[in-house]
Amino acid sequence: MLKTLGIAALSALTLSTGAALAAGAEGHVHDVDFSFEGPFGKFDQNQLQRGLKVYTEVCAACHGLQYVPIRTLADEGGPGFSPDQVRAYAQNFEIFDPEIDDYRATKPADRFPGSNLENAPDLSLMAKARAGFHGPYGTGMAQLFKGMGGPEYIVSLLTGYTGETKEEAGVILYENTAFPGGWIAMAPPLEDGLVEFDDGHDNSVHHMSEDVAAFLMWTAEPKMMARKQAGLTGVILLIVLSVLLYLTNKRLWAPIKKKVKKES
Ligand code: HEC
Repeated sequence: MLKTLGIAALSALTLSTGAALAAGAEGHVHDVDFSFEGPFGKFDQNQLQRGLKVYTEVCAACHGLQYVPIRTLADEGGPGFSPDQVRAYAQNFEIFDPEIDDYRATKPADRFPGSNLENAPDLSLMAKARAGFHGPYGTGMAQLFKGMGGPEYIVSLLTGYTGETKEEAGVILYENTAFPGGWIAMAPPLEDGLVEFDDGHDNSVHHMSEDVAAFLMWTAEPKMMARKQAGLTGVILLIVLSVLLYLTNKRLWAPIKKKVKKES
């Protein structure tokens, strides 16, 4: 039994190393080392702020974040805005308020507006919705072993344009190596230098893609750090408990084992 398990584990490991190569028809997704991966991973506050800026200045023209309350920008583990910064940021958007029967600027208590463009999906949960099952034959092993998931898909999508376009039923489609099927209706939204960061951080397409993907991972799972911490505490407790149980077990059986030895 143990031997079979060992062989299974080994073959799983070997297979996963070929994962990036074997993505195939599903579209190519490449691995990115994000700060929030692994059991001790944390969101990088500066990266979340840059990602928010990319989202606000570029993606929000078409996409929405209708499940994300604006006030959460001040939550611990997030972009780390002060209450004043949140109030100022909320002025960026307008929503329709049925009470005054008119449009007004959003407030921290409101959520981000939904998508402006009918066929652009809401991005609140996109990083989890597209976590996918990458790896050989869609087994999810790349996710298990390399932590590859939705944010990697978003980076691969934003950097996966080949420059080829075609028209189908009056819609322009753009060739993309990450998008399943290979042709997406979203024009390449980013170009080098499009968004200026206050700290002068690298604003190549690749870096902006990573930043906005990290930000979208945060919108999809803002409590990830708290969850990891709780999980880790749980594992440590279980280890301590197992050691105690093992010792108790030895101790309980010690007199009986002695007796059996004497008799034989
Ligand atoms: C000009 C409008 C527009 C802008 C700007 C835009 N998008 Fe899109 N996006 C779309 C449309 C339209 C689709 C749907 C494409 C389709 O289904 O073929 C889409 C789809 C997506 C998808 C889903 C792909 C999938 O797997 O279904 C993601 C993720 C995405 N956009 C991310 C972004 C990010 C991040 C930005 C900002 C950097 C951005 N988009 C900017 C129009 C836009």
